[in-house]
Amino acid sequence: MGLKNLLTLKDLDRGHVEKLIDLGLKFKKDEAPNSFDGVFYCPVFLEPSTRTMLSFEMAAKRLGLETLSFNPGHSSTLKGETLYDTLKTIESMGTKVAVVRLKQEGILGEIADQLDMKLVNAGEGVREHPTQALLDAITIYEHFGKLDGLTISIIGDIKHSRVASSFVDLYSKFEGTLKLFSSPEFGEFDSSHDYEDCLKNSDVVMLLRNQLERHEKSFITAEDYNLKYGMTSERLGQTKKNSILMHPGPFNRGVELDSEILNHSKIKIWDQVTNGVYARMAVLSEVLNG
Ligand code: CP
Repeated sequence: MGLKNLLTLKDLDRGHVEKLIDLGLKFKKDEAPNSFDGVFYCPVFLEPSTRTMLSFEMAAKRLGLETLSFNPGHSSTLKGETLYDTLKTIESMGTKVAVVRLKQEGILGEIADQLDMKLVNAGEGVREHPTQALLDAITIYEHFGKLDGLTISIIGDIKHSRVASSFVDLYSKFEGTLKLFSSPEFGEFDSSHDYEDCLKNSDVVMLLRNQLERHEKSFITAEDYNLKYGMTSERLGQTKKNSILMHPGPFNRGVELDSEILNHSKIKIWDQVTNGVYARMAVLSEVLNG
């Protein structure tokens, strides 16, 4: 198959998405061959990240890629260099793939058309986080053996969440029910779903972090959010039998979930982190072969 870049899931059909999921699962089962020896990879993270950045690095190492280190705090972006010029500089040194995270939306597509180097979106504004959606799909598939026919609820700060937006893109290619519940306090987002229903009748409950760094004002205090919507042992007990609970991380203990639930068998948060490595191996491998 091969991919030119991976900037969004909107461009991919169901077959492409299934191929990436299958490839991720295959990488998880078998040791990956070091198929990209001597090929250079550069992460360009202009927003904070722990799991996406490090899992791409782990994925790159497992594929035999050579990783360049880019530190935004010590880079020439601070001297006014544009993102295109930064990426063209990295490309001109011989790098074959860059993984980019940034706050602005809609510029990666334009830049990708002007580069020979492959680009992968590691989180762009509030709309795109395609590799997070892929790792979430792998985690759901591992538990249920399918993606069709499930009821999946995403609960939280939908309006500011690129995790939710990319998962909507992904699940639109499958036959199932996707419910989005956003606390009314966040405003503007038209949520037609009911919190109790999402909690009690879903196969997958996906919690989101309150994206304080993207809020222009205070919508709800951490205490109030926890009281109204935080996942406690009691609320976890109300979820459907055989359902699972996910969170993309980083999570805020005592806000969207309580520490005491973290060791419950329904919690798949650490599986999501693990699957991030394999989803990103699949993506890097497909773009480099594309
Ligand atoms: N889920 C996610 O994108 O986490 P990081 O911000 O730590 O990469």
